[in-house]
Amino acid sequence: MLPKFPLSRRQILFLGLSGLAGSAAVTAGKVVNTNSQVQALYNPQRDFKVVGQNSLKQRAASKGIIYGAAVEPEFFQSNTPFRASFLKDCGMIVPENSLKWTQLRPAPERYDFAKADWLAAFARAHGMLYRGHTLVWHNDIPVWFKEVVNRQNAEKVLVDHITTVSKRYAGKMHSWDVVNEAIDPESGRSDALQTSPWLDFLGPDYIELAFRATAAADPKAMLVYNETWIEYDIPKHEARRKATLKLLENLLKKGTPIHALGIQSHLMAHEKGLNPKKLRAFLSNVASLGLKILITELDVIDQQLPADSAVRDRMVASVYEDYLSVVLDEKAVIAVLTWGLSDRYTWHASFLPRSDGKPVRPLPLDFNFQRKLAWNAIARAFDQARKR
Ligand code: XIL
Repeated sequence: MLPKFPLSRRQILFLGLSGLAGSAAVTAGKVVNTNSQVQALYNPQRDFKVVGQNSLKQRAASKGIIYGAAVEPEFFQSNTPFRASFLKDCGMIVPENSLKWTQLRPAPERYDFAKADWLAAFARAHGMLYRGHTLVWHNDIPVWFKEVVNRQNAEKVLVDHITTVSKRYAGKMHSWDVVNEAIDPESGRSDALQTSPWLDFLGPDYIELAFRATAAADPKAMLVYNETWIEYDIPKHEARRKATLKLLENLLKKGTPIHALGIQSHLMAHEKGLNPKKLRAFLSNVASLGLKILITELDVIDQQLPADSAVRDRMVASVYEDYLSVVLDEKAVIAVLTWGLSDRYTWHASFLPRSDGKPVRPLPLDFNFQRKLAWNAIARAFDQARKR
């Protein structure tokens, strides 16, 4: 079921996007778009050749990098070919939704671990790493929350949740996105923190509290602060990068157990702002704090690209390779996770649909699990990366 375009107010708010403008079309083989960035992306000569037969996980692993993807149990259960593709390419599983509050906590006193446990067992059975997303997110608040949580009990509710969930997978989790998207440069606050019930009830220290509770419950997991829309050279992203660095510095100063920054990387193909120098400098700044970096939710928004899928795939592949060649140059980047593996299962279908109704094509494999140029682009970026 695809929601209607344009996006609902909820979806726009969810994405923190506004004013996605312009659209592209191909006329007689030529890309026509008011957005020159979209036109510049189309290079029919660009070479996406890959050498050898290795899978993405093998290419990544040979450089000391992890490759994996987000998934839900039902994708595997309903689709054997998908399962085979996933096992071939991915070395890590990230539950796309199964570890979120809204899924785990159908009622205040109840936890439902069925799906997250299933994925944990699947990962273990196939020798894959397992990764947790996410323990605290302002956008992931169950319906019962408002009636139940208040200033008096918020700390206990948060710590109980974190302790119960992270203890269950203690020693088995590669890493946890402890806090997701805590920054919003447009919140009007001097610390640029995102408004959320946790911030309202507990103040800015809820972030540190969450990290400490996770470390206590699972001392072995790598603890990650995960942030979105910080990739491009546009004012909003720049402001978020600045605020993110400040947040990380402050957390570290207080001795908070935090080990890495997650950069979601939902890349906007129509956006002009990839600035390799600035992005590279940001990554160096993060690395110099002693933190690792994970690319946690990589995919390419093709909403405003031409309808023609061959043209579109070529553009999407360019965005992947251009971005990954910058970020993988930083040795602190230890993992690349795409937010899905195949275009059959992508959140863009409902959150970022195209106005022409054509299926979106944001991921390395197509709807039928065949490799696209995006797969080649990722493979090439791993092949060109330096060893960690
Ligand atoms: C998305 C999932 O992909 C959707 O299936 C779900 O309906 C909403 O959440 N940033 C995040 C992810 O941190 O948790 C979001 O995942 C995508 C944006």
